[in-house]
Amino acid sequence: KSLKDYNTFGIDCTARYFVAVTSVEELQQILSGQLTGGARKKLENRFILGGGSNMLLTKDIDALVIYLNLKGIKICSETDNQVTIQAMAGENWHEFVRYCLEKDYGGLENLSLIPGNVGTAPIQNIGAYGVELKDTFVSCNAIEIATGKEHTFTKEDCDFGYRNSIFKNEAKGKYIIVSVTFQLTKKDHDLNTGYGAIQQKLTEKGIETPTIKDISEAVIEIRQSKLPDPKKLGNSGSFFKNPVVDSQKFQEFKSKHPEAPYYQILENEYKIPAGWLIEQAGFKGRRFKDAGVHENQALVLVNHGTATGEEIWQLALKIQQAVKDQFNIYIEPEVNII
Ligand code: EPU
Repeated sequence: KSLKDYNTFGIDCTARYFVAVTSVEELQQILSGQLTGGARKKLENRFILGGGSNMLLTKDIDALVIYLNLKGIKICSETDNQVTIQAMAGENWHEFVRYCLEKDYGGLENLSLIPGNVGTAPIQNIGAYGVELKDTFVSCNAIEIATGKEHTFTKEDCDFGYRNSIFKNEAKGKYIIVSVTFQLTKKDHDLNTGYGAIQQKLTEKGIETPTIKDISEAVIEIRQSKLPDPKKLGNSGSFFKNPVVDSQKFQEFKSKHPEAPYYQILENEYKIPAGWLIEQAGFKGRRFKDAGVHENQALVLVNHGTATGEEIWQLALKIQQAVKDQFNIYIEPEVNII
């Protein structure tokens, strides 16, 4: 089966076997070898596919691809001020954000329009415009692949960091997240308008006391002006993470490039925008056959049509090397390379 419609890069790789699961029980049955029948029964290899928004397929998948199509949103508990809400892994992230906005539940508005599904959001602790998933995250339920048992991971268990969590480390490849629970506000929303671009948008529109919908709209406009829509131009959002360097390395960098943007995150840690580094290295808007660098945001690699995962990966390596040569800074992919 072609996976072209199942990854936002739009890479045309195939799956040896493919099954879509719509319930946790079905997933557990498949993991235990049932339901797959005949030859598939012996196939040990499994590949879990969620929204396909954070991966680059560089080869065909010789495995049983399990597509998580688990749907549903439910309220777990609520008070006058707050609501605890659970969404199943297969819910589209932005649709879930929209659902919350409709109900006037606050906390996710800055994370509007991020591609992918609810279930993959904790893996990389998705973040944008001053907010990260971890800020409203309560817990997630996950099925242990080896045993089929369901476990609950609390926020502490998840060990969230910048684009990082336990699911990229110790728990990598061992669990399948099936649902995520958030705590959101019903009133007195804790608005996050600190990010310069949001403030600017609100001012432009003459909004002084923004609602969560206003913030969501501002974020959507900013994202649409910089980031390509995966339905029109295949991409996986930021391809690289912003590199974090220590003071010594930062001072060395800053003395050579005083004009560079940066954010200090800790006393001894500075984040330098990879988009800036890539643009300086001359790659913004460039194209090698159908593999390219987005014209409005150099951090995003794009598939202009028929690029293979390998072609995009070769471009990524070329960029990585150029940035290393010019700035002596290593930029690491954010996207999972398969
Ligand atoms: N910049 C350039 N050239 C570019 C792109 C950026 O010079 O081509 C400069 C900008 O001028 C700005 C700085 O780099 O001074 C930062 O740019 P931007 O605000 O666009 O954010 P970013 O650091 O490039 C991060 C996230 C995005 C997220 C935005 C907004 C990472 C890896 N990326 O990008 O996340 O939307 O901040 O919060 O942390 C994603 O993860 O897929 C993603 C899009």
